[in-house]
Amino acid sequence: MHANSPVVESAQEGPHRRLSEVVERHRAHVWRQPIAAHSRQAWATLRDWLAPRSDSPLILDCGCGTGASSMGLAQRNPGSVIVGIDQSLQRLSRQGEIGDGLLQLAANAVLLRAPLQDLWRLLRADGIRPQRQLLWYPNPWPKPEHLQRRWHAHATASLAACSW
Ligand SMILES: C[S@@+](CC[C@H](N)C(=O)[O-])C[C@H]1O[C@@H](n2cnc3c(N)ncnc32)[C@H](O)[C@@H]1O
Repeated sequence: MHANSPVVESAQEGPHRRLSEVVERHRAHVWRQPIAAHSRQAWATLRDWLAPRSDSPLILDCGCGTGASSMGLAQRNPGSVIVGIDQSLQRLSRQGEIGDGLLQLAANAVLLRAPLQDLWRLLRADGIRPQRQLLWYPNPWPKPEHLQRRWHAHATASLAACSW
């Protein structure tokens, strides 16, 4: 795979000092932002695709970008189903046309356009538990004061119970 990303520099050298406090706050409050209609539509499409594959372990490639990593996961895990999720139509479209929000990548893999903060809640509400979730190279907000912008530390990120 082509590697041309700049090295991320940060004054934060370990877990954020406010991490426990932020996680506790998220645990104590329900996130009330309404789920977008397009997220519900994307989830309905994905649910239909997953239904006949429900016996296979589910692996989520969160913030998959162009989906290159999802394709690699599909090849290395032929007994699993892989769902690459990203909110960027532009990035996902490198693999082909995203019709109704879903693009079939391989027999055992699709790409889905959706915001993860909605999809995590929808998965949980329907009792779907991924076996694994992967989060490769999330947008770097390297400064400690950027904690609130790190979407993978979002209130909903812990909802899809599984191993990361
Ligand atoms: C730095 S890129 C990394 C892409 C890929 N994982 C990689 O390693 O090349 C971060 C990706 O996260 C996606 N992203 C950011 N916030 C998101 C959100 N709330 N829901 C879904 N995708 C999101 C962006 O669109 C982008 O493609």
